[in-house]
Amino acid sequence: MIDIPTEFARLLKSATRVAVLTGAGISAESGVPTFRGEEGLWSKFRPEELATVDAFMRNPKLVWEWYLHRRELMSSVSPNPGHHALVEMEKHFKDFTLITQNVDGLHRMAGSKNVLELHGNISMNKCFDCGKSYSGEIDLESGHLPLCECGGKIRPDVVWFGELLPARVLNDAFDAVARTELFFSVGTSALVHPAASMPLAAKRNGAYLVEVNLDPTPLTPYVDCMLRGKSGGILPRIVEMMKA
Ligand code: OAD
Repeated sequence: MIDIPTEFARLLKSATRVAVLTGAGISAESGVPTFRGEEGLWSKFRPEELATVDAFMRNPKLVWEWYLHRRELMSSVSPNPGHHALVEMEKHFKDFTLITQNVDGLHRMAGSKNVLELHGNISMNKCFDCGKSYSGEIDLESGHLPLCECGGKIRPDVVWFGELLPARVLNDAFDAVARTELFFSVGTSALVHPAASMPLAAKRNGAYLVEVNLDPTPLTPYVDCMLRGKSGGILPRIVEMMKA
């Protein structure tokens, strides 16, 4: 068991509307690299060369190589106890929304149902021009880049820097933020907007705000409860308390 404030313990028992925002930290224990920090992807690669529309227009092959590399890496990972704990929470709370910035699909693989993928999903592709969705493998060996039947370039179905988030997903996320009584920010550096604005928006709407992270973030001074440590250890403890 972990030591949590009385108000948090009370809400774990009484709340019906709960929302969780996750970031790369929740998948770190599954072996998916995070973005920031010494070992993060952005310490080794430059986002503007790999994760922007300009980068794709300039060098689509390089961008595809990077995404296929990450896709391959993610194909061999599986959900960890943090992901599984959120599945338990979804079963327990009447109105539960899981908002994720992760593109790895691990929440759905664990069994979460109501998942809002703010930044898309790395296993999916779409046409740059008409938006048609494509699943399936991309073969760069042929020397040809994949094209849609409309002639547009096919790209990974993820959100790049400078792009708008999918409108329906974003609306549903802010709806959940507006009605939640208890909001968890888990494994995110809380730096990338609009996701980063969700925890404080929830708090402004009266929600109790909990952060689960290895380290303090810019959000930490504003939370009602900071639980410092690995999400794979802390979330299962919260589930135990929720069920006790
Ligand atoms: P970051 O890499 O910025 O932050 C990961 C956070 O997880 C950090 O605050 C770590 O302290 C924390 N952390 C690491 N391991 C943890 C663990 N086992 N348990 C709990 N916390 C842990 O990742 P995000 O905040 O998700 O966007 O990054 C947000 C967005 O920036 C990403 O979605 C991506 C990136 O650029 C796009 O690609 C559009």
